[in-house]
Amino acid sequence: MVRPAQIKLDPRTHVMVLTGAGVSAESGIPTFRGSAGLWEEHRVEDVASPAGFLRDPALVWRFYSERRAAAKDVRPNAGHAALAALEEQLGDRFLLATQNIDGLHQAAGSRRVIEMHGSLWKTRCSRCDRPAFDDRDSYTAQNLPGCAQCDARGDFALLRPHIVWFGEALASEDLARIDAFLRPGAGTRLVFVSCGTSGMVQPAAGIARVARSRGAETWLVNLESPDNAGDFEHTVMGKSGELLPQLFAVTG
Ligand code: OAD
Repeated sequence: MVRPAQIKLDPRTHVMVLTGAGVSAESGIPTFRGSAGLWEEHRVEDVASPAGFLRDPALVWRFYSERRAAAKDVRPNAGHAALAALEEQLGDRFLLATQNIDGLHQAAGSRRVIEMHGSLWKTRCSRCDRPAFDDRDSYTAQNLPGCAQCDARGDFALLRPHIVWFGEALASEDLARIDAFLRPGAGTRLVFVSCGTSGMVQPAAGIARVARSRGAETWLVNLESPDNAGDFEHTVMGKSGELLPQLFAVTG
């Protein structure tokens, strides 16, 4: 019998995990690319860009409303649970950066989570700087939501999904937190794991290379070979729900 690959974690090891849509696939949420992927039916720039929202806000809200409806009753899988359990053991020596907007890591119990691309469950104003707020509603052309705060000032602005779209910058505090975690200081060992992502979208795809340049051991856990496969020293191919539960061995 072939022994499964394991990452041995001693008390000086810090672990950062980057996840993508593949981690939620076994929960029943379709990935973005590939056969039956979400982008197969839509042009990315129509539904996930500021220009797409300006052109057709109803289409964009329909897309994200469908995502909300599809993700509403979805449960985290064994991969999400394994990462939450790892955080439980490592505490502040663990950080999870996810490109997923579905909230399943938090539903599994993860707390040290950076939602790099925003959250499906939040809405914000497309114009004013009122903070994003919790929202699970669906919108169509018939009930496109306007901002009450702008309305009170006599302005009109549409509300929009709290998603980082193509062409938009990620939150600088999120990037700073990732950067700080990848500088853990002398005497520590850094491990970086990328799981369930095609490595096609920056800046997430570039974190592996940054981690490696800072001396991290880099691990890839994925169903298929991603675009940035060359940035990893160790590769484990397969499904995250099957691999993550046995990947980490905490010692000491
Ligand atoms: P993709 O759909 O591009 O890639 C999903 C990856 O997961 C592929 O490499 C699959 O091989 C792999 N995969 C599928 N099922 C898996 C499983 N059960 N276990 C492990 N791996 C599996 O999704 P992302 O890389 O997350 O951004 O896409 C990145 C970003 O592109 C998304 O966050 C989204 C999209 O544009 C925004 O919408 C802002």
